[in-house]
Amino acid sequence: MEEKILYSAIQPSGNLTIGNYIGSIRNWIGLQSKFTCFFAMANMHAITVRQDPAQLRRRTLELAALYIACGIDPEQCTLYVQSQVPQHAELCWVLNSLTYVGEMERMTQFKDKSAKHAENINMGLMDYPVLMAADILLYQAELVPVGQDQTQHVEIARDIAIRFNNRYGETFRVPEAFIVKQGAKIMSLQEPSKKMSKSETENPNASVYLTDDRDTIIRKFKRAVTDSGSEIRFSEDKPGISNLLTIYSAYRGVSVGDAEREFEGKGYGEFKLAVGETVADALAPVQAEQKRILADKAYLSGILAAGAERAFKAARKTLSKVYRKVGFYQGD
Ligand code: TYM
Repeated sequence: MEEKILYSAIQPSGNLTIGNYIGSIRNWIGLQSKFTCFFAMANMHAITVRQDPAQLRRRTLELAALYIACGIDPEQCTLYVQSQVPQHAELCWVLNSLTYVGEMERMTQFKDKSAKHAENINMGLMDYPVLMAADILLYQAELVPVGQDQTQHVEIARDIAIRFNNRYGETFRVPEAFIVKQGAKIMSLQEPSKKMSKSETENPNASVYLTDDRDTIIRKFKRAVTDSGSEIRFSEDKPGISNLLTIYSAYRGVSVGDAEREFEGKGYGEFKLAVGETVADALAPVQAEQKRILADKAYLSGILAAGAERAFKAARKTLSKVYRKVGFYQGD
């Protein structure tokens, strides 16, 4: 049977939110036994906006510990730090020559980040989707579980793979995004028309971070913006309540319909408290486990060293094929 490969990554660029968990990590857990999985700390992506070096290094380890604390099995999956596998940058360079500037200028995230960091619209920011394509294609991944905001990037990775295969012959497997039906876009608790984001700095009540303590979590949910009316029902004209229902059902492992029935006839206040308590109860053991793993430096660095080695071997195989196809001399 041909190996089925799954690839995903997260940038260690801020405090992870429950959106990152619900939209991505949560879905990896159930897939890890069915696929050969590669999960990266995308630190090369992170530097496309300014990062404090010490903080970036620390966050990279925190993210690795978080993956494991959330239930990613490092024995079963390859967990590694992107910058430890040089083939990412090398393949990115080759793919750059098959990617058009116009395509990159049209990327939604590039436009958003350019507006947000107008003083720092660097080449890396624009090239970001090509690096992401290199990540995915290096491992011949067929499935890429991500939140909704990354679908455009997976689409361009597909386009680049097809373009390369057409020009040089079958080389890359063409990947597909895997987006969950519920929870692929968790919204801000303060502005339910906006995505919850780990880079949100203006309003700390908008995002619930995976590191928040119980009181903070409950307070943020209590203050969550809700809609007019009093019914707890999932609907387009109730973006605040719908978002809370999505979060609640994700953490309780129930359907949104079941959650609606549970709160039938109850008020917003009671519902918001229940969501806060549910999330706080779920996060406490993950936080404790993350702390324990982080304290065990030898264990964590062992996992990352083994991961980098496994990733390196897989990446080298694809890159060598690519270099042969494009006509790069690789010695006799
Ligand atoms: P990043 O670090 O911004 O986000 C990590 C994952 O979390 C998802 N996500 C959300 N899901 C639901 N609701 C939200 N509010 C929410 N916010 C974020 C993202 O969609 C993502 O799946 N470019 C990627 C990292 C990356 C990558 C890759 C992903 C680099 N190389 C290769 C897949 C394959 C990013 O910035 O994700």
